[in-house]
Amino acid sequence: MTKKTKLFALIGDPVERSLSPEMHNAAFDALGLDCAYIALRVPSEMLADAVEGIRAIRLAGFNVTHPHKVKIIDLLDKLDRSAEMVGAVNIVKNVGGKLVGFNTDGDGAVRALESKVGKLSGKKILLLGAGGAARAIAFSLAQAGAKLTIANRTAPKAKGLVAAINKKLGVKAVHVALKKNILVDEIRRSNILINATSTGMYPDVDRTLVTADMMHHGLIVNDIVYEPLQTRLLREAKKAGARTVDGLGMLVHQGAMAFEIWTGRRAPVKVMEATAKRELSRRG
Ligand code: ATR
Repeated sequence: MTKKTKLFALIGDPVERSLSPEMHNAAFDALGLDCAYIALRVPSEMLADAVEGIRAIRLAGFNVTHPHKVKIIDLLDKLDRSAEMVGAVNIVKNVGGKLVGFNTDGDGAVRALESKVGKLSGKKILLLGAGGAARAIAFSLAQAGAKLTIANRTAPKAKGLVAAINKKLGVKAVHVALKKNILVDEIRRSNILINATSTGMYPDVDRTLVTADMMHHGLIVNDIVYEPLQTRLLREAKKAGARTVDGLGMLVHQGAMAFEIWTGRRAPVKVMEATAKRELSRRG
C-alpha cells in the first residue's frame, strides 16, 4: 500500500466468510493496481453512519451484502438501471463524490451459467427462491429471454416477484407452490433448475429442496450456494444423471463485474476464480 492506494471495501453483517477480499486483492495484484480491499462489519443500526464515513474518507467503491442490500438505497445519490429495476444494490462506485449503486448479482449469475451451458434464451427455467439473490437473478433470467417459473417457501413473495417482473419487463413469468408434487411436474417440463435459496448452505449442509427422484437426466441443475461447492442438491442431481453447475461461477462473475465497474479494466476472471477456489478448499 502507498499514500495513494485506492481503498475498496465490503460492508455487511456478518462478513467473515466472504471471499471478496481475497478475490479482489488478487485481481488488483494481477493487474499491478495500487488498490486494496477490506471487509468491514457494519451492523444495521450503524449503516447510515458507515455510509457517511465512507463519503468522508472517500472510499473508491464498496460491495454491499446482507442485510444492507435494500436499505442502502436511500443512502445513495443515484442508482443505475440494474439496481433500480431489482430494488437492491450489491455494488457502489464513488463517482466524483457521488455514490452510485449497481446490482450485478443477476447478470453475474446469467453470465456464469451461460458460460457453462450456452444461451438461456427460450430455455424453461425453474427458479427456487424469492429473496434478495433470487430477485436479482429472476430479473436477469427474464431479460436473457428464459421462460421463467418461480417457487418460494413463502408463496406471496414469489407471486409479488413474478408480478414485478412481468410488469417491468413485459414478460410472462409464472409462480408455483413450493410443494413436492408441483415441483416434480414443473421439473419434468424444465431444462434448468436453479436453487437461489440459502438451503444447503454451510452449516446446514444436508438440506435440499429437491431430491434425485424428482429430477431427470436431461436437466441442468445450478446451485448459487458456494459453501460448500458440492451441495446436497448437486449431489442429488448427479445421482439423477443431471448436469450440474456449482455456485463458484456466479460468485466470480459478480465480482468480476464489480471490478470492471470500479477500475474500468477487464477483470482477470481466471485469477479471481483460482483464488476463490483455493480459499474455499483451504476452509475445507
Ligand atoms: P439472500 O439475500 O441470500 O437471497 P434472503 O433474502 O434472506 O437471502 O432469501 C433467502 C431465500 O431462501 C428465500 O427465498 C427463503 O425463503 P422465504 O422467502 O420463504 O424465507 C429461502 N429459504 C431459506 N431457508 C429455507 C428453507 N429451509 N426452505 C425453503 N426456503 C428457504
